[in-house]
Amino acid sequence: MTDHRVTGEVATLVVVNIGQLVTGDPRLPAPGVVKDAVLAANRGRIVYAGPASDLEVATGPETVEVDVHGAAVIPGFVDAHTHLVWLGERSEEYALRAGGASYEEIAAKGGGIRSTVAATAAGTLDELVAAAGERARRMLRLGTTTVEVKSGYGQTQEAELRQLRAARALGTEPDGPDVVATYLPLHGLPAGDRAAYLEGVLGEGLAAAAPLAGFVDCFCEIGAWEVDECERLLVAARAHGLRTKVHADQRSHSGGSALAARVGAISADHLDHATDEDLRALAVAGVTGVLLPGASMVLGGPPPPGRRLLDAGATIALATDCNPGTCWCESMPLMVSLGVATADLTPAEALLAATAGGAAALGLTDRGRLLPGLRCDALVLETPNWLDVGYHLGANPVARVIASGRLIGL
Ligand code: NIG
Ligand code: FE
Repeated sequence: MTDHRVTGEVATLVVVNIGQLVTGDPRLPAPGVVKDAVLAANRGRIVYAGPASDLEVATGPETVEVDVHGAAVIPGFVDAHTHLVWLGERSEEYALRAGGASYEEIAAKGGGIRSTVAATAAGTLDELVAAAGERARRMLRLGTTTVEVKSGYGQTQEAELRQLRAARALGTEPDGPDVVATYLPLHGLPAGDRAAYLEGVLGEGLAAAAPLAGFVDCFCEIGAWEVDECERLLVAARAHGLRTKVHADQRSHSGGSALAARVGAISADHLDHATDEDLRALAVAGVTGVLLPGASMVLGGPPPPGRRLLDAGATIALATDCNPGTCWCESMPLMVSLGVATADLTPAEALLAATAGGAAALGLTDRGRLLPGLRCDALVLETPNWLDVGYHLGANPVARVIASGRLIGL
């Protein structure tokens, strides 16, 4: 570990007496645990992450030292798939589904995404930020230090852009996670002419969204958008410098995974109905597979293909899919539990999927692991054992959050 040593740097934050430091260092057995460790940062960057015995960082008057008394420390969670900006609620649908109605039947009767669009598109920017901000703060308390936020409940140009602006405003709040915004114009079907809507998205939609978003996404599904419509969007997005994502093979084998591989998307998400051939194609194309075990469980479909993706050689991420229809959940610790319980992952694989994997799904090379040079986004746990993240089902294992080298007062 001597190459982790950085001499001569003044640390602004030093976390001492870490019983288990989960680094995510790929050179160590997963998930890269270092015992009796210290984590040090200079402003937002890690300058040391390793054994206390090897520590060589300078301290100064502005250094904050935190003694965690043997607790475990893990990387901050990167939640790479959420629909955080919405107004209204759909508890009635939740009850109807419990009584046997399907997601598709409810959508066909005007519920589903459409009902959230009706509530959200009417909201002001302030109302959107207030509603989503409450969820984002809950996420931070549960250890999410970076969150991806999609539009998709606007459906007019103006309302979609308002959702993206709300996402960006969330990212500037000091007590919230860092935010990455994604333009999701092809989500529910528009009330009016479908072809005209698509042309508008391909033209002025992409041009207006490009300065506000890092990614473009589409819901490629029977009853939503067709493969060829999604393909036109993803190809056009590239010309605007936007990277691409696909809601793929969530409810049926509708061709989204193959599309994601074909266009070289950064991620293909859901994948519950993807075949082994699809998963191999994703691995070969370097597309990260994003597993959303909360949505899979709520909708009652097949389990997310965690083990199958790893066997195919793909990078995987775990995310919440936080949305009002299929998974109202802000908890990444719960996704780690579900990754193990339902996607056939080991606890180490699940934890890395929720941290480094999430970063990969967002193309963020500066976070997701605790290594020198990376952003210091770290979680001090309530207990000495990192396994408790998944083991303690439905709990919040996070005692303190460090975001960009700063202790957050929660
Ligand atoms: O990821 N599948 C499409 N989008 C969301 C659900 C959105 C909604 O029902 O409001 C999802 O599951
Ligand atoms: Fe989604």
